[in-house]
Amino acid sequence: MTTIIRNGTIVTADLTYKADVRIENGVIAEIGPNLKGGTELDATGCYVMPGGIDPHTHLEMPFMGTYSADDFESGTRAGLAGGTTMVVDFVLPGQGQGLMDAAQMWHNKSGRACADYSYHMAITWWGQKVWEDMSASVDAGITSFKHFMAYKGALMVNDDELFASFRRVGELGGLAMVHAENGDVVAELTAKLLAEGNTGPEAHAYSRPPQVEGEATNRAIMIADMAGVPLYVVHTSCEEAHEAIRRARMLGKRVWGEPLIQHLTLDESEYFHPDWDHAARRVMSPPFRDKKHQDSLWAGLQSGSLSVVATDHCSFTTEQKRFGLGNFAKIPNGTGGLEDRMPMLWTHGVNTGRLTPNEFVAVTSTNIAKILNCYPKKGAILVGADADLVVWDPAKEKTIGAASQQSKIDYNVFEGQKVKGLPRFTLTRGHVAIHDGEVRTREGHGQFVAREPRPAVNRALSQWKDLTAPRPVVRTGVPATGV
Ligand code: URP
Ligand code: ZN
Ligand code: ZN
Ligand code: ZN
Repeated sequence: MTTIIRNGTIVTADLTYKADVRIENGVIAEIGPNLKGGTELDATGCYVMPGGIDPHTHLEMPFMGTYSADDFESGTRAGLAGGTTMVVDFVLPGQGQGLMDAAQMWHNKSGRACADYSYHMAITWWGQKVWEDMSASVDAGITSFKHFMAYKGALMVNDDELFASFRRVGELGGLAMVHAENGDVVAELTAKLLAEGNTGPEAHAYSRPPQVEGEATNRAIMIADMAGVPLYVVHTSCEEAHEAIRRARMLGKRVWGEPLIQHLTLDESEYFHPDWDHAARRVMSPPFRDKKHQDSLWAGLQSGSLSVVATDHCSFTTEQKRFGLGNFAKIPNGTGGLEDRMPMLWTHGVNTGRLTPNEFVAVTSTNIAKILNCYPKKGAILVGADADLVVWDPAKEKTIGAASQQSKIDYNVFEGQKVKGLPRFTLTRGHVAIHDGEVRTREGHGQFVAREPRPAVNRALSQWKDLTAPRPVVRTGVPATGV
């Protein structure tokens, strides 16, 4: 099976050049001028880029009394339609459930994926069994561990558990991750708002102000520093959290921040919409923010203080959102975005001059492949890398709408947005899943991407921790005891 991508311009995180790409058996076999033979894909006028990696999805996830609506089939199909060729989903063990038992449940669901996928493991409770299973998780290729500092009474872990788990992650050579919101404060504010009659979706935003996120982000950074573990902060939505990450990075800490395409392009005015459904459909945590925070997030991507753009794709139908009629705290938290992340980021980033095409590749694919230690299998255009590629047509336009989307839900938070810059072809390990607007995805084509622990940054951190570890001072003069 040979495919040649002809006449395109290759754009990677660090290079732009004209070349053709030859693909054999799902991997890149040759890059060079005037390649011929096999099935040809015409990339005239297009950029050939590493397929997008969305490191933050929740497909068919049990949450807030229901399941997120998109499963591994529809979720990865939506991703491919928008140029994303890999997702990283969160395994979410129930209270008292073993980590590997939960991982098996995820494997049972993900067999239907149309594109490759990997997992993060969530630490949703703490005990000896979890501590032991963390090592098995790493052995099984799940090397990143997510901690919820919010969702009190459900997924939240406390600081002592956070510190113990972070130390364990550090010792295993993994990556610590956090959903950084102060769950105790959110619970107090939620109760107060409800008691005062603030029951609508707008109160969701009031219950989770930026300070809640800034405080937790800073706390997680300091705890990770003491534990000697690299830290990845998911869905960084505001200046307060970004400021903590920026400061930590300037101090040499190994911390990465992940803004979502939703927070980069949508704002809190959505919650004040007179239509309850409109507002509730946009309820997610952290909430959409005052517009001023968007400038901070864009600046972070430009300067490198923020590293990755994700979606946190966690879609719920309007019917599911209505569980929260009369009580905003019962609206299932989450929004979609898998199909729209890359076109929206290109439109609002590259087409405005806020990002270069190379920076676009870095924040949608290459940076996270490096952080998660699956580069250059993923996130690269190199001989031997998986042929997860997107042939990107910068002139192609569409208006986003639920009527034409791949996701199963009945609305789209970007409804009506015009985007310019879309895939002409999306290839998943060489299979052309999106062919000039035609969806040719194959259910079950996706494979699990196991990841190795101890990337270079972990080795560097533990080397430094060893060098600076507390040691008893060997003294020359020791006073006699009992004097
Ligand atoms: O509201 C959100 N973000 N839902 C998905 C779960 C999470 O917190 O990431
Ligand atoms: Zn979260
Ligand atoms: Zn999430
Ligand atoms: Zn296949």
